[in-house]
Amino acid sequence: MSSLADVANLSDIAKGGVGAKSASISTREYLQRRSFIELNARERAKALFDSETARELAGPFDRIESPWLAIQGVTPQADDGCIVMRGTIGGNQAVVIAFNGAFQGGGIGEVSGAKLTAALDLACRDSENGKNTSAVLLLETGGVRLQEANLGLAAVAEIISSIIALRAHAPVISVIAGPVGCFGGMSLAAGVSSYIVMTREGRLGLNGPEVIEEESGVEEFDATDRTLIWSIYGGQQRYNQGLIDVLVDDDADQTIKTVNELIAKGVPPINRSEQVDVYRSRIAALDPSTQWEPESVRSFTSHHK
Ligand code: COA
Repeated sequence: MSSLADVANLSDIAKGGVGAKSASISTREYLQRRSFIELNARERAKALFDSETARELAGPFDRIESPWLAIQGVTPQADDGCIVMRGTIGGNQAVVIAFNGAFQGGGIGEVSGAKLTAALDLACRDSENGKNTSAVLLLETGGVRLQEANLGLAAVAEIISSIIALRAHAPVISVIAGPVGCFGGMSLAAGVSSYIVMTREGRLGLNGPEVIEEESGVEEFDATDRTLIWSIYGGQQRYNQGLIDVLVDDDADQTIKTVNELIAKGVPPINRSEQVDVYRSRIAALDPSTQWEPESVRSFTSHHK
């Protein structure tokens, strides 16, 4: 497993009313909005920072790229599809890590995983030294990068452990905005973060539609059925199930405002992943002999919040 040593540069350079609500806007406002989804990963990360404070760490000119892709006939990318930026958000120290869903489905490989972990660990170290540093994860990812399977799985374990260490000091906010969504091991990483923000266009789940179809057949899950996919994994469904904190429109200003508010709000009194009894009682009340439809899941969870 590559380690933080692979991103040694990072370490040196780095010194240096939110509620659960669904927003809705008028048609005019909708047409005038600045889409967040249409920004690429680097633009999204930069947009979150206070003006002129963002600086990229371990960027493309450092050429820290995956050593595993070329030997499998895949052209690597100079930032390994993972952008790390440091700066301030609403005057607070923050690091933003953004995944480029257009590169290998945003899959986590050895290098991108090490970049994310290093950024979280630096934020944690700074927080422990009295300089609280929040983290924002912009997740556009199909989970573990299939070409780097075991290394990607190891990276996910490190990422989860680093999120749990940091969230005790400063909020870790996962934003799932774009159409790739957040799947596999990275859905677990989102699950342990302090807050999750989604758009309706985003989707969140452990096993992705492609995997379920491949493993269990098209009768079980048709991975081309977009209505089915979004009715199960989509932001609206996850919000109604109480599995995310804030549902935003695809609007850069609204997303930036929400992230600012969550950082200002600070560490939640109890993290979602610590509410074991709540989820245990939900599972106990589930009748697995029934065929569950998205609608029935919604009403079940709304009665078991
Ligand atoms: N590793 C490598 N490549 C991945 C990937 C992963 N984990 N997830 C997606 N991709 C690639 C796809 O192969 C595809 O590549 P191509 O354009 O060269 O064909 C590209 O990303 C887009 O994926 P596609 O499936 O065509 O897009 P989609 O919008 O229909 O679906 C997902 C996106 C993520 C929902 C779907 O790919 C999926 O279900 N992936 C599996 C998720 C999962 O269960 N992961 C578990 C691994 S821990």
